[in-house]
Amino acid sequence: MTRLVLLGPPGSGKGTQASAVQSRWGIPHIASGDLLRARVKEKTELGERAKPYMDRGELVPDEVVIEMMAERLSESDARQGYVLDGFPRTVAQAEALDERLEPMGQRLAAVVYLRVPEPEILRRLSGRQVCPECNAIYQVDTMPSREPGVCDECGAALIQRDDEQPDVVRKRLEVYAVQTRPLLDYYRGRGLLHEIDGTIGVDNVLARIAGILEEAQAGAAERVE
Ligand code: AP5
Repeated sequence: MTRLVLLGPPGSGKGTQASAVQSRWGIPHIASGDLLRARVKEKTELGERAKPYMDRGELVPDEVVIEMMAERLSESDARQGYVLDGFPRTVAQAEALDERLEPMGQRLAAVVYLRVPEPEILRRLSGRQVCPECNAIYQVDTMPSREPGVCDECGAALIQRDDEQPDVVRKRLEVYAVQTRPLLDYYRGRGLLHEIDGTIGVDNVLARIAGILEEAQAGAAERVE
């Protein structure tokens, strides 16, 4: 049972790694940003409420996100574990996740923080392309799709996200620094935080995550013995 949280600023590679973790370990990749964008696209009530915050690069209110994630985490595929991408993002969200896990005697295996300096983040995001159908992620310079502008996985036309304009990216970075960075101390204090240099290449980052998960599983086995 693997429950992994990926933490890091916008563009640090959370979605890229979560998708690789899903392929390698067969656990669902649950991304709060993808879930919110799907609801915005479908124009649901939740989506209409979330959209102005997302357009400004601000966080959607905790109560909205916590309820959405509680629903998603209660789906049957999440019983075998999951990799969380973009959630939790505030201390209130982290506490809500703990309150969900503790009564069931469950715990997170690890929280992985992907450390990437701001100039690299700005470079990555200026050339990121995403698939609006299957959420695959590309980078025009370093990780391009085989056919320009077309998703390798499902053939849909690739897009740039609405929140990728420079002023919105700046806002997202500011919001990360104020509201999400405190989670590093939150999880460090619980002995769950592992820091990885997020600039070492996708495969190398994944190899580090694999090592962390193996260590966490060995620790869990020791606790059971
Ligand atoms: P969300 O969708 O979660 O966006 P984010 O956290 O800002 O992160 P990104 O998706 O931009 O980046 P990433 O870290 O996944 O990087 P990626 O793998 O794409 O949130 C969007 C909005 O939704 C928020 O602003 C907020 O409004 C709302 N929201 C979401 N969750 C919320 C929550 N819990 N509470 C409240 N509001 C919430 O990689 C980036 C690029 O780099 C790609 O082009 C990729 O190809 C490339 N790349 C990846 N890894 C590497 C590498 N190792 N080397 C070189 N290039 C790499």
